[in-house]
Amino acid sequence: MRRLVVCTNSLLFLFLAAAPLFAAPPAVKPGAPWLDNRGQRIQAHGGGITVWKGAYYWYGEDRTQSNDPEKRYVACYSSKDLVHWQFRRQVLALADPEHLGPKWVLERPKVFANPRTGKFVLYAHLDDARYKVASVMIAVSDTIDGDYRYVKSFRPLDQESRDIGQFVDDDGSAYLIFESRPTKGFFLAKLSDDFMSVEKTAFIQAPLEGGALVHADGLYYVIGSHMTGWSPNPNVYATAPSITGPWTEFKNLAPPEANNYESQSTMLVKVAGSKKTTVIFMGDIWKPTALWDSRYLWMPLEMKDGSMHLPPPQPWQLNIKTGETSLKP
Ligand code: GAL
Repeated sequence: MRRLVVCTNSLLFLFLAAAPLFAAPPAVKPGAPWLDNRGQRIQAHGGGITVWKGAYYWYGEDRTQSNDPEKRYVACYSSKDLVHWQFRRQVLALADPEHLGPKWVLERPKVFANPRTGKFVLYAHLDDARYKVASVMIAVSDTIDGDYRYVKSFRPLDQESRDIGQFVDDDGSAYLIFESRPTKGFFLAKLSDDFMSVEKTAFIQAPLEGGALVHADGLYYVIGSHMTGWSPNPNVYATAPSITGPWTEFKNLAPPEANNYESQSTMLVKVAGSKKTTVIFMGDIWKPTALWDSRYLWMPLEMKDGSMHLPPPQPWQLNIKTGETSLKP
């Protein structure tokens, strides 16, 4: 009898110890508050992802309510699975660097890791309250989550530049995507060897913002939103065989009445797994009167024969090794 009790207890212990192995992996929940390892809301709005040494780093606008209102902040988080995010630090806490005046703007920060110089180069949209300065700024760090030091601001290719996006191709070439209103389109601009300036690569005639690019299944896909400020609108995509084009007409990413599920594009993340290549749409659900409470809409895109579709948001899981995703009922 006693032996039976010991045996049952051992089995129970084994079962409990192994249970986490069989538990369903945690899901990404579009639109829900997303917490970091401290249990605090992730503050990485208008963000970008940098892949470095086998980990993902998520940078974005940190709109924490207790931030000094005179400064602008960029936060950095790291993850191995794109689901659990560890807060690294506020990598930028910048006072007005160019006498831009009250309510100056730092938006959509993106970090590029330069393999040649070993430096990390942060680009962001820099502006005054009326969005008339229309420039980019650069800050540099020796480590991926160090203190980024402000270096300069400029208009890339001497063009007005507002929303920016980032893209790193499979061959390691890095590009800044920027929206230029007077020319009514997106510039795709390759970064110079030291990443401190850009050169013109391509121009896409389409008055869009929130630009992002991905290279998957032998095609380049560009996405963007129309220009309606913080309000959502139907986001669109086009494709091309080469980054220099020719680009197709723009088509809707989701049924237009869905209004992109209230989100605006900021980045496309490619996960090239052992079984499948998945492209994740990364968007912001802005709350203009409480920007700190803005949410994220991340969904795996459905891609087939050059088409791209954003499915209705619902919780989903990602196997970071195989690249496979599954929707959670
Ligand atoms: C959006 C833009 C945001 C922010 C906002 C301000 O169009 O994508 O990054 O600039 O306008 O109204």
